[in-house]
Amino acid sequence: MKTKIAVLVSGGGTNLQALIDAQGSVLTSGEIALVVANNRDAYALERAKKAGIPTAVVLKKECGSQEAFEEKLKEVLTEYGIEVIILAGFMTILTEQFTSCYPKRILNVHPSLIPSFCGEGFYGLRVHEEALKYGVKVTGATVHFVNEIPDGGEIIAQKAVYIEPGDTPETLQRRVMEQAEWILLPQAAETVCAGLQQ
Ligand code: GAR
Repeated sequence: MKTKIAVLVSGGGTNLQALIDAQGSVLTSGEIALVVANNRDAYALERAKKAGIPTAVVLKKECGSQEAFEEKLKEVLTEYGIEVIILAGFMTILTEQFTSCYPKRILNVHPSLIPSFCGEGFYGLRVHEEALKYGVKVTGATVHFVNEIPDGGEIIAQKAVYIEPGDTPETLQRRVMEQAEWILLPQAAETVCAGLQQ
């Protein structure tokens, strides 16, 4: 039996796409059984539908509080028998109330080499803007386990990406995705799912 994965998304979902495309090749020990968005307009939902993967939308403002939002997420994940959760551009912080229920079973992809340019407020394009502003010459991506500290859980994999002259936050974001995130995330998902089956 394959490990049941839920991918949590907020936006475009290119990392979700990388996971979908890796199913049957890099990702063999797990299968994406559910995609959950915290935003009705997330294009990632279309990607899931095209791939025939069930979707759910859980909105914080409809739940009324962070606590109720996390309870609702847990309810949906339990309903689908989810064993591993992948945050793929999921732009909301989860508290200990949620993370402690899934120790070493929640993965996140972050677009920098942690511990640089990470933690609260560092997400999406912002991360690349800050890397360029600082003037670092090397950045990259990190896949890590999620605990109660934002971007503070154990690192699973990292890959470096060089900054090039003339880079903008957008060109850098794209290169970090192509050269690091889309490769690392499916590999890390496979490692974790395979580990759970031993
Ligand atoms: C990705 O670059 C991901 O690493 C980043 O958001 C982007 C989502 O793109 N996540 C964070 O910044 C989390 N702190 P996608 O929706 O196309 O996968």
